[in-house]
Amino acid sequence: MRIDVLSCVPELLYSPLNHSILQRAQQKKLLEVYVHNLRDYSLDKHRSVDDYPYGGGPGMVLSAPPLANAIQSLSQNIPYDEIIFLTPDGLTFNQKIANQLSLKQNLLLIAGHYKGIDQRIRDKYVTKEISIGDYVLSGGELPALVLVDAIVRLIPGVLNDETSALSDSFQNGLLDAPCYTRPAVFEGMKVPEILLSGDHQKIEEWRLQASLQKTQKLRPDLFHKWENSYNP
Ligand code: ADE
Repeated sequence: MRIDVLSCVPELLYSPLNHSILQRAQQKKLLEVYVHNLRDYSLDKHRSVDDYPYGGGPGMVLSAPPLANAIQSLSQNIPYDEIIFLTPDGLTFNQKIANQLSLKQNLLLIAGHYKGIDQRIRDKYVTKEISIGDYVLSGGELPALVLVDAIVRLIPGVLNDETSALSDSFQNGLLDAPCYTRPAVFEGMKVPEILLSGDHQKIEEWRLQASLQKTQKLRPDLFHKWENSYNP
């Protein structure tokens, strides 16, 4: 998979994209990530990328010409499956969207800043608008990183133990069961006996029950969805 990220603060992206699982995915040639500075696509000598909003009001708006220039230049070489704008008024990101996007070959993520981007870019070029939650961040860089991380860990071969992405919370619509490691007794608290039994079938049954109980308690909304769709 190839992911391009367009930003006017590219420095925010480098470290997270080049450590841990994302670094390993690139070393294994399962992922190529390119960060592009929007200023490099500015059409004026001051490398400006924003302007005052028509109609007045606070904040600056990322202007259309540099964004269109960047999107057109990049699209000349890469047939993007999706051009995604990160914005609080987009569709709320979830595991299902992560799964769908992990099947794509080429993604372009656009991180906005300031007050937003010129609507005409959204109308003409953007194919998906995604929010990472109902709160406003200073820019789209952190949301872009959230998407990249959630998507890339689903690409087969990225995680060492491929099944571990499949057993993540949300992957089956439920929260994950509690997990434990040594020591078996910690500050007087014991690990559930069944997990020490070596009986894999019983352990799986226990995990499913624990996962159902936890989901029902903490996320009744997810539990009801699971009852109606995953467990017809
Ligand atoms: N940009 C600013 N806030 C955001 C959010 N919650 N999700 C996606 N992009 C954003």
